[in-house]
Amino acid sequence: MEDNIIEFGELTSSQKEEAVELFLEGFGKFMTFSKNVELKKKLFIEIFDPKLFLCYLEDNKVLGLMGLGTNKIRPINFKKEICQKYFGKFKGAIISKQMNGVFQKPAVKSDKELYLDTLVTHPSNRSKGIGTILINKAVSFGNYESIVTEVFSKNEKAIKFYEKNGFVISKRHRFTIMRFFGAGYPIVITKDLRTICK
Ligand SMILES: CC(C)(COP(=O)(O)OP(=O)(O)OC[C@H]1O[C@@H](n2cnc3c(N)ncnc32)[C@H](O)[C@@H]1OP(=O)(O)O)[C@@H](O)C(=O)NCCC(=O)NCCS
Repeated sequence: MEDNIIEFGELTSSQKEEAVELFLEGFGKFMTFSKNVELKKKLFIEIFDPKLFLCYLEDNKVLGLMGLGTNKIRPINFKKEICQKYFGKFKGAIISKQMNGVFQKPAVKSDKELYLDTLVTHPSNRSKGIGTILINKAVSFGNYESIVTEVFSKNEKAIKFYEKNGFVISKRHRFTIMRFFGAGYPIVITKDLRTICK
């Protein structure tokens, strides 16, 4: 099944659009910098890292998307010139600065940790094992000792999903401005890979 996974950069233009739509389906509510969905789609197609986003395909349709990061690189870079191309000089510069303050901040400290930045599967294809296939791909990606991710406390389905896949809760960020999004507070969850034979 891992054979069905390819890098974002290898997708056709229409598959890239599907991948971005999937991303917005899962995480669009946090992308409040613009209400213009068409412009946001165009932007994300250009700012997704072609190698760090992995896509699960069935019958040429994108049914799953995973973005991976490390302590040096993260998979979504709101590059100033690209933001300005779609949102104008002033607004584009603000979007770039604000969004990269979150999305380009190193999410893990050690180079032995892999950060699971984004994971989303197609709503009508959930509970079919696609999320698990993508997690298994992350497990065999490089030579890391752990995978770290963050999930909001109200996203009980995702927390249960990660726990079933061997993640354990390592930290709760109860006091954060993120609470205003209504999704609860971020929980850091970690999967130890040191005992797994790859
Ligand atoms: C969280 C998410 C990625 C899980 O993806 P998924 O494709 O549904 O994952 P899986 O199918 O591997 O596992 C989900 C459930 O299906 C079950 N399952 C797995 N394989 C199965 C199969 N072949 N047949 C039936 N059920 C199966 C799993 O046991 C799991 O059960 P649970 O919900 O009781 O824990 C998905 O719900 C999602 O995209 N949510 C929105 C975005 C999000 O919240 N992302 C996580 C935060 S970053």
